[in-house]
Amino acid sequence: MIIGGSSSQKLAANVAREMGDVLCPLESRKFPDGERYIRIKGDISDGVVVVQSTGYPQDENLMELFLILKTISNMGITNIRTVIPYFGYGRQEKRFNPGEAVSAEVVCDLIQYAGASEIYSINLHEESICNLFNVPANNLSAMPTIANYVWDNIDDPVIVAPDKGALGFAQEIANILNCESDYLEKIRISPEKVETKPKNLDVDGRDAVIIDDIISTGGTIVNACGILREHGARKILVGCVHPVLVEDALLKIFAAGADDVVGTDTLKSEVSSVSVASLVADALKKGS
Ligand code: R5P
Repeated sequence: MIIGGSSSQKLAANVAREMGDVLCPLESRKFPDGERYIRIKGDISDGVVVVQSTGYPQDENLMELFLILKTISNMGITNIRTVIPYFGYGRQEKRFNPGEAVSAEVVCDLIQYAGASEIYSINLHEESICNLFNVPANNLSAMPTIANYVWDNIDDPVIVAPDKGALGFAQEIANILNCESDYLEKIRISPEKVETKPKNLDVDGRDAVIIDDIISTGGTIVNACGILREHGARKILVGCVHPVLVEDALLKIFAAGADDVVGTDTLKSEVSSVSVASLVADALKKGS
């Protein structure tokens, strides 16, 4: 039995289809004052999968997840595998400054308290978030799924990470497609001048794929598009796992010279055309 929360209804339906499982009807609505009401409307037995991303509006989606988990748990279900395709609050997984909340830890504690018995997430902002859970936690990679999209849409590209931190993603895709990868590096030309360019490769006349885990404001990708255009890249495809896309991020990315932007359905957006349903279903099948 699969339960899809408000933020992941279609993905939950696709995961159910891939697994040959059924979707549990769920009533989820708000009271006039904004408080959340949920009711599980199906007959459930042990072995439930809950799918709910906790992106914007993060607090509402989290509250709904807690209510779903605790309600099933109160029904006597102990095997509650919880799929959180995009894990909100993942950026604050440690205390960077004294007095700060370790938000990811609080969220992990509450998810466990509510009854989750195993966690599945996709490209967590930090792998170490898995260690904040006392139940088994799996961090899946959607890069092979994005690699399939690249394979179908672009020939012999160079895969570019917008910064060194994203190089692992670019390499993962490049290894699958057997093509080259690189990252954009800042080089100090003089005390006053910094130039950013691909570290090793010449992109002049080549098709490029910029890859990152998250696109939020789009600033990182806008910068990368500009640099690749300056260095003569022909076609630019932008790929990400989690299209957070704050405000006009997408418009800014196209204005910066991207020809195509693609993301996965860990979050609903205009570009969420690559589905992680098979990735999730395969992991759940392996784990069961
Ligand atoms: C940073 O660690 C992430 O990998 C992304 O590069 C970042 O979240 C992108 O943010 P923005 O779209 O706001 O530049």
